[in-house]
Amino acid sequence: MAAHALPATQRALKVAGANKVAVQMACPLPTLQDDEVLVRVRCASINPVDAKMLDLAPHVGATAGCEFAGDVVTVGAGVRNPAMAVGVAVFGCVCGNHPERADNGAYADYVAVAGDLVYLLPSHLTYAEGASLGAAMPTVGMALYSTWPLHTPQTRPQTPPQSLRADGSTTTTTTTSSTTTNQTRLAAAVEAADRAAAATTTTTTTNAGLAAGAAATTATTTTATAANYNHYVLVYGASTTCGALALQMLRYSGMVPVAVCSPSNFAMVTARGADAAFDYHDPACADNIRRHTHSSLGYVLDCIGDVASMKICYAAMGAAGGRYMALNPFPLRAHSRRDVKPDYVLVYTIFGKEMKLPRPFGRPARPKDRAFAEAWYRSTQSLVDTPAAIIPHPIRHGSGLADILPGLDCMRQASITGIKLVYQINDTPC
Ligand SMILES: NC(=O)c1ccc[n+]([C@@H]2O[C@H](COP(=O)([O-])OP(=O)(O)OC[C@H]3O[C@@H](n4cnc5c(N)ncnc54)[C@H](OP(=O)(O)O)[C@@H]3O)[C@@H](O)[C@H]2O)c1
Repeated sequence: MAAHALPATQRALKVAGANKVAVQMACPLPTLQDDEVLVRVRCASINPVDAKMLDLAPHVGATAGCEFAGDVVTVGAGVRNPAMAVGVAVFGCVCGNHPERADNGAYADYVAVAGDLVYLLPSHLTYAEGASLGAAMPTVGMALYSTWPLHTPQTRPQTPPQSLRADGSTTTTTTTSSTTTNQTRLAAAVEAADRAAAATTTTTTTNAGLAAGAAATTATTTTATAANYNHYVLVYGASTTCGALALQMLRYSGMVPVAVCSPSNFAMVTARGADAAFDYHDPACADNIRRHTHSSLGYVLDCIGDVASMKICYAAMGAAGGRYMALNPFPLRAHSRRDVKPDYVLVYTIFGKEMKLPRPFGRPARPKDRAFAEAWYRSTQSLVDTPAAIIPHPIRHGSGLADILPGLDCMRQASITGIKLVYQINDTPC
């Protein structure tokens, strides 16, 4: 592939103040770091984080936008990923509105991203679909797999670990062979996990009961980290882009996801692998989930992370407590159980550098997150490459950088339900 002639300047959507962005026509291209590739952006999507960062921590002059798909035009001298080459189609995420890299963001003609932290875009996914997955893939990876003891997702159906311990150890793990000829990969994973779950329900309920009994008799030494949980994982906000992807990943890990969302999205989340869906507007929501999960739910992913969501999640958890992971900084005042360990991930820690942002976004450098993320991208590329394995969120298409402005407003008004907003950035259709 012939080298792409880079222009002297580019178009970019720049942060102009709190809640304010503006298209600028003659901006510098991102300065490429050694371990990065430069990507000509074809499509960029809107993430709620884009709107939140603009509102709460705007960095005037920075390029906005975190999710993109496009074509590699330059490969940095220190890029180790052998798949990175000029002309290769990729998708991924960066930190837009960056306080120290004002020239880099997804809402621009060009974006720079670490060569180890980007997915190859397979031919069965469009650029728009790639852009819709850019942040959700690493976010779900960090949330579900960086600290919880789940199997790495794979298209070969897996059974859940029979005993899942929050301290990271597991017992009895079985893998069954694939029978995906006439099914989608996801359907096969759902069927395998359901079969395994049906076979282990009695055992896991008993395990949970034993854990509760042990807690009663050895109250001074038994904590949630020693509890046995079953195969259920609650995904609160399952109709969000991250939630819908989490449902699929959990199925590929042999787990049985349970969804919480509005009834209008029940069909969608069920198609993404949810075993059952519950309405968060229903006052009996938590009770219904606890009944459905035999009071042994030990893992919760909360894609919303506010007082109301946390209340339902905590009440839905089983007798032995467990792990709660939020995608937003959760309100400490809603942490109402000592047997539940709450946590929060910010996807930008995957870059391994300090995030110098105001609270609640600021995070110290976490090299272990970078190491995890590199392994995560490598290990899930095959899932991305498998046709029909990952079902992207339904997309509403837009065109041009200026079109992103009203999209950000929709995001602020929370009027988006069950769709992802994706924009064509340059003249090439995506
Ligand atoms: N920590 C990170 O690094 C990170 C990364 C990416 C995203 N996020 C955060 O994760 C969240 C999800 O992001 P996303 O892009 O996946 O979202 P999204 O696709 O834009 O989410 C839209 C959905 O949010 C649901 N929703 C809104 N308010 C709700 C509430 N109070 N309770 C339950 N559901 C509610 C709606 O569901 P119904 O219509 O079904 O009610 C709607 O379908 C956002 O808060 C975002 O800021 C964090």
